[in-house]
Amino acid sequence: MGGRTPLLVLTFSLAVLSIKLGISHGCRETERKALIDFKRGLHDPSNRLSSWVGEDCCAWEGVGCSNISGHVIKLDLRNSRRMDPWALRGDITPSLPSLQQLNRLDLSGNYFMHKPIPKFLGAFRRLTYLNLSGAGFMGRVPAQLGNLSTLQHLDLSYNCYWDDEVENSGWISLLTSLRHLNMTWVSFTNAANWLQDLNALPHVQEIELISCDLGTFPRSLSHVNFTSLTTLDLRGNYINSTIPDWVFNITSLEFLYLGGNDLHGFFPDSVTKLTSLKALDLSGTQLSGSFPDWLGNIKNLKSLDLSSNSLCGSVPASIGNLSLLQHLSLGSNDLNGTISKGIGQLKSLVDLDLHENSLSLSEDDLANLSSLEYLDISYNFIELNKSDDWIPPFQLQSLSMDFCQIGPTPQFPQWLRTQTTLRQLQLSSAGIKDMFFDRLPSSLEYLDLSYNSLHGSLPASLGNLSMLRSLDLGSNNLNGMFPESIKRLKGLRDLDLYNNSFSGNLSPRITNTMPSLQWFDLSMNNMSGEIPFSYCQLRNLEGLQLYENNLSRVIPNCWKTSSNLLLLDLSSNKLVGGVPDSLCNLQMLESLHLSHNNLSGQIPHCLKSCTELATLDLGHNNFIGNIPTWIGESLLYLKTLSLRSNAFTDMWLFIKGSELEYTTRQLSMDTLIDLSNNYLSGNIPEELGNLHGLRSLNLSKNYLIGQIPWSIGRMKQLEVLDLSRNNLSGAIPSDLAALNFLNHLNLSYNNLSGRIPNGNQLQTFTDSSIYAGNPNLCGPPLTKNCTLNIAKAGEEEQNEDSSKSRMETLWLYTSITLGFIIGFWAICGSLLLQQTWRTSYFRAIDNMFDKLYVMMVVTVAKYKRKL
Ligand SMILES: *[C@@H]1O[C@H](CO)[C@@H](O)[C@H](O)[C@H]1NC(C)=O
Ligand SMILES: *[C@@H]1O[C@H](CO)[C@@H](O)[C@H](O)[C@H]1NC(C)=O
Ligand SMILES: *[C@@H]1O[C@H](CO)[C@@H](O)[C@H](O)[C@H]1NC(C)=O
Ligand SMILES: *[C@@H]1O[C@H](CO)[C@@H](O)[C@H](O)[C@H]1NC(C)=O
Ligand SMILES: *[C@@H]1O[C@H](CO)[C@@H](O)[C@H](O)[C@H]1NC(C)=O
Ligand SMILES: *[C@@H]1O[C@H](CO)[C@@H](O)[C@H](O)[C@H]1NC(C)=O
Ligand SMILES: *[C@@H]1O[C@H](CO)[C@@H](O)[C@H](O)[C@H]1NC(C)=O
Ligand SMILES: *[C@@H]1O[C@H](CO)[C@@H](O)[C@H](O)[C@H]1NC(C)=O
Ligand SMILES: *[C@@H]1O[C@H](CO)[C@@H](O)[C@H](O)[C@H]1NC(C)=O
Ligand SMILES: *[C@@H]1O[C@H](CO)[C@@H](O)[C@H](O)[C@H]1NC(C)=O
Ligand SMILES: *[C@@H]1O[C@H](CO)[C@@H](O)[C@H](O)[C@H]1NC(C)=O
Repeated sequence: MGGRTPLLVLTFSLAVLSIKLGISHGCRETERKALIDFKRGLHDPSNRLSSWVGEDCCAWEGVGCSNISGHVIKLDLRNSRRMDPWALRGDITPSLPSLQQLNRLDLSGNYFMHKPIPKFLGAFRRLTYLNLSGAGFMGRVPAQLGNLSTLQHLDLSYNCYWDDEVENSGWISLLTSLRHLNMTWVSFTNAANWLQDLNALPHVQEIELISCDLGTFPRSLSHVNFTSLTTLDLRGNYINSTIPDWVFNITSLEFLYLGGNDLHGFFPDSVTKLTSLKALDLSGTQLSGSFPDWLGNIKNLKSLDLSSNSLCGSVPASIGNLSLLQHLSLGSNDLNGTISKGIGQLKSLVDLDLHENSLSLSEDDLANLSSLEYLDISYNFIELNKSDDWIPPFQLQSLSMDFCQIGPTPQFPQWLRTQTTLRQLQLSSAGIKDMFFDRLPSSLEYLDLSYNSLHGSLPASLGNLSMLRSLDLGSNNLNGMFPESIKRLKGLRDLDLYNNSFSGNLSPRITNTMPSLQWFDLSMNNMSGEIPFSYCQLRNLEGLQLYENNLSRVIPNCWKTSSNLLLLDLSSNKLVGGVPDSLCNLQMLESLHLSHNNLSGQIPHCLKSCTELATLDLGHNNFIGNIPTWIGESLLYLKTLSLRSNAFTDMWLFIKGSELEYTTRQLSMDTLIDLSNNYLSGNIPEELGNLHGLRSLNLSKNYLIGQIPWSIGRMKQLEVLDLSRNNLSGAIPSDLAALNFLNHLNLSYNNLSGRIPNGNQLQTFTDSSIYAGNPNLCGPPLTKNCTLNIAKAGEEEQNEDSSKSRMETLWLYTSITLGFIIGFWAICGSLLLQQTWRTSYFRAIDNMFDKLYVMMVVTVAKYKRKL
């Protein structure tokens, strides 16, 4: 008997083993087939599904089976890298619902070819998690999803912008197990009942409906059912109302994001009912009135964003009670007064953004902010009232003081030297009259000291800033030659030295020691000698601007096909000889400026291979021969061609006038530029007028200064012009009256002055609100009469010469490219974004990416709304 026991045990063990093996090897055949079928419907450029072979589908990448039943319960093919070849592309085959036990399906970040979300997904009766975020779906979201009564997480966000829509949100109310809902970018235009339907979800904790065109905020709700709701994110929905009371009955709320809506009225004090609130975002709404005193009562707040509203008066001391506050953004309001008693007490503050107010700060006010890492006080006043040896309690990562008025004398704050973690310093246009501060921290990666009055030569200590990626010293009074130490800036990508008085020969050194250089601007200086051969070898260079110097000799003939150059501007120098053939190797070139030199010969025929060219400016040289006809045929993207003042013989082209420009048929992408609600600063470039085909130009809600360029009068096709809410000054150009197609104009809330021009098209604009908020404008349709003085003042300002700056030029290119991207986005193509980016100049201004991205979303929204 005893001898048989082991055998029995062994037999039993084998049996158990075989059961186990049987299950783990034998994934269900129907399910295996369904998966194989699913794979067949997909294009898989990176071979992510290479493990999908053999019998045991449970061992395949992304597939998970139940230990007990052996059924496939999980399919996770998320592509978290997004926008790259890692994405699977194709269709979801109808056999997929054979995976009847599936409870988790994640296909996010792949690309389903602008097809609608399949109805049969409603058949996964056990699904608890469905993630189709960023997966290129387009069209109506199927009501069949309402069958997923066990669903807890539903993420349909970031598919084709507003091309996904919910026709009737009734099905959402059936998802009674739902806890997390994200339908960002899905249009709810035709789902008027959205609130009632959401209110039927008793367990929902997080609702994210960003940019869903909700449009309205139902005023009333009979009973607030959301007792578990912690996050309500309704940003960017153009909700035009006051904030309804029911929101403040959701006492479980911890995160309330309502920014980017047209919410108006005074600040609702019911917010204090939300005692659990940790984050409140009401940025970019239209709240007005004084800064609410009672905000200091929301004790748990960690993040408060009230930027871009019309709050006025001072920041009350009670805000100092928010002892947990880490992020505070009050930028772009009309706040004034001091901050010492309130904000100055917030010891936990990490991120403080006060930009564009009229606040008076002092170094004293900052003396208690020991956690501070990000500080933006641009467009305010700061008094340097500590002694030079003051050591602040904080270590900043980023400091922005652009357009700050620094008192009592405009100089560098001496404590900058103590900020050993500082990576970004923006001190543009701060009126600093000083030498280059040679004790800047070596941690700096981004340094902008442009538009000041820095003088003297660059110190050798510049080379200590070896982490620098971007250096902008443009528009100062710097002189001399570059210090030898500049070659230590090995990681530099963007070097801007325009509009100074640097002299000497162009250094070949740059190319040898700065292999990463992408943007190099040394225009408007006194550089002489020739353009070194080595400049052709900068592989990563995208923009080379050397205009307005004294460069002589010939353009080097060494340009390579491997070059990434997009912009080459050598105009206004003393260059001689012809256009070298090797320039034709610059296949990426979009903009070539060689005007105002002594160049001669014929325009090389091979230039027709630079098919990306949008601007070709060869004016004011001695070119001869016929105007090449291939220009119009090969350069399909060409928008501006200037051949003015040369010795061409083909006379008929001059018929159009002295400035020869011809616009090609390829204008469609440029018909709409909407850069509203952005961070654009500086002047509107005169060159904008060159975009003849433009139909709609919206630059509202930016920080633009200077005058409205006269060249706008040249944009004869313009139908919509919105420059409201900027800081534009001077008179309104009378040429506006000549824009015969103009049917929408808004110049409100600027600082324009003088008489409103009349005549022609302008006479049809009788609504005075389009000029509101410009106290110095006069004449009809305003009731204010023009006294002689006001009218004159405006005209004089207008005559001031607006100086051409690199900012303006860059800005122009940015707008062109954006025009393109916007057109592209309207057709929807999130996955291809990366590629579009390549053809743009944005990489030179790296950290603008996010802002532009956000802006584009907003822009497209507005564009669509118009349609
Ligand atoms: C299934 O087995 C794996 C590995 O043996 C284990 O990590 C997991 O927790 C099990 N799951 C269940 C639901 O038992
Ligand atoms: C869905 O997937 C994306 C990544 O593609 C992820 O960021 C997101 O958090 C997921 N959603 C949910 C609800 O888990
Ligand atoms: C799912 O829902 C639709 C409509 O909501 C319904 O007609 C259908 O019978 C349901 N069942 C399945 C399996 O799709
Ligand atoms: C969608 O919202 C949920 C919260 O409901 C969040 O967890 C998820 O990360 C969001 N998805 C994306 C892609 O951001
Ligand atoms: C609130 O939820 C209950 C069930 O939890 C439901 O009967 C009721 O209709 C809901 N109220 C609203 C207004 O949807
Ligand atoms: C909100 O709460 C108040 C009491 O604080 C109550 O009278 C009111 O009916 C509630 N409103 C809704 C919509 O639930
Ligand atoms: C909001 O709605 C009112 C009328 O209901 C309208 O007069 C106003 O122009 C709207 N505001 C915006 C920003 O659309
Ligand atoms: C809040 O701040 C105000 C003004 O600083 C102060 O008078 C008040 O006592 C504070 N309240 C609490 C609860 O700390
Ligand atoms: C602040 O602005 C208000 C108007 O918004 C004005 O009445 C007040 O005098 C200003 N205070 C200071 C200190 O400038
Ligand atoms: C800094 O904190 C100390 C102690 O809490 C306080 O006495 C002082 O007034 C504060 N200074 C400022 C500028 O807020
Ligand atoms: C403006 O001037 C006209 C005559 O030039 C005069 O009749 C009118 O009363 C004036 N209006 C104001 C508001 O001064």
